[in-house]
Amino acid sequence: MAEQSKIEFGNKVPLVDSYGRAIKNVRISITDKCNFRCIYCMPAEGLEWLKKDQILTFEEIERLTRLLVRMGIEQVRLTGGEPTVRKDLPLLVKKLSEIEGLKSLSLTTNGYLLKNLAKPLADAGLTRINVSIDSLVRDRFFQLTRRDSLQQVMDGLEELEKHPSITPIKINAVAMKNFTEQEVVGFAHLARRKPYVVRFIEFMPLDADEIWDRDKVLTGDEIRAILEREVMPLELVPSLDPAETSTRYRFIDGVGEMGFINPVSHPFCSACDRIRITAEGMLRTCLFAHIETDLKTVMREGASDEVLEETIRRAVWKKEMKHFINDGEAFKRTKRSMSQIGG
Ligand code: GTP
Ligand code: 5AD
Ligand code: SF4
Repeated sequence: MAEQSKIEFGNKVPLVDSYGRAIKNVRISITDKCNFRCIYCMPAEGLEWLKKDQILTFEEIERLTRLLVRMGIEQVRLTGGEPTVRKDLPLLVKKLSEIEGLKSLSLTTNGYLLKNLAKPLADAGLTRINVSIDSLVRDRFFQLTRRDSLQQVMDGLEELEKHPSITPIKINAVAMKNFTEQEVVGFAHLARRKPYVVRFIEFMPLDADEIWDRDKVLTGDEIRAILEREVMPLELVPSLDPAETSTRYRFIDGVGEMGFINPVSHPFCSACDRIRITAEGMLRTCLFAHIETDLKTVMREGASDEVLEETIRRAVWKKEMKHFINDGEAFKRTKRSMSQIGG
């Protein structure tokens, strides 16, 4: 810690790890529950949900966010499980959007409840949204999510378009071998027709059923080859943010943009600026972390903001260098699956 205190910018000590990465982005999971059962995430029967008193209250989330913003966090993303199933979500969004210094407040959702929530979320001050859709074909959507809800999600997207204060609208599709190949052209046409940035995400070993193996990963490069062959050549869109998870391309005629999140084939850990807080208030400094820091207990035992800040700084300093998905035996799955972390 002594090393850290020496680097001061103005009177604010940046939140940094021991590899010199500045932390600017927090993903806060607000529930572990979900109304879908995506095969790359949850078992068909669901998981054992946390009880109400085990999850952070809105007041605790707000306190943590205020403190983190004072410590240099600029972006907050609310995640789940499925964050829209948490009661009164727009109220939380409103409280967080009023925090001075917060530059971006976003949500990652499966879109099922968006039709009714788009307006309240926009009114509450949400600035960005990412919606997960893995297939544009009804029965294939069902095959992946185990819910017959494609139309409802598409209706939610239509509704979102009426609220331009939420921008951009991104679509996330988890890419799996022998499945997603057939979706690529459909998504390209959607990205050309609609103001959505469609991003393919390489399947990661975070699924509760443990079906992941390397052969099931359809890489971003493989998808890009399909697009170039079956739609038209793409050109790189330069990024201003080195910590961005996706590499984006546009079609050479300028219509439509596609992104690739390639954590397996092209890990982006060296530029990672993210930390995570789980629904029950555990601070995780990596998606694949094996060690967590219990912020809920610290808060509920009555700790001051100074003590809470010191606890966070110490944990962040030890942020993991990288994930070990590509390191054979060195890779050990974390005890949590994706829905219990928030992506
Ligand atoms: P933007 O800020 O809009 O770019 O969002 P995002 O891509 O950071 O968030 P989103 O919730 O849409 O996540 C998309 C995918 O990226 C999910 O599969 C996440 O698990 C994955 N992802 C996000 N952050 C990390 C990370 O630090 N490491 C890895 N390996 N994957 C990540
Ligand atoms: N690998 C990659 N992405 C995943 N997601 C859920 N499970 C996985 C996985 N095993 C995605 C969701 C959502 C985001 C939070 O993470 O589809 O877009
Ligand atoms: Fe639910 Fe998201 Fe997991 Fe699908 S990926 S089961 S929508 S938490």
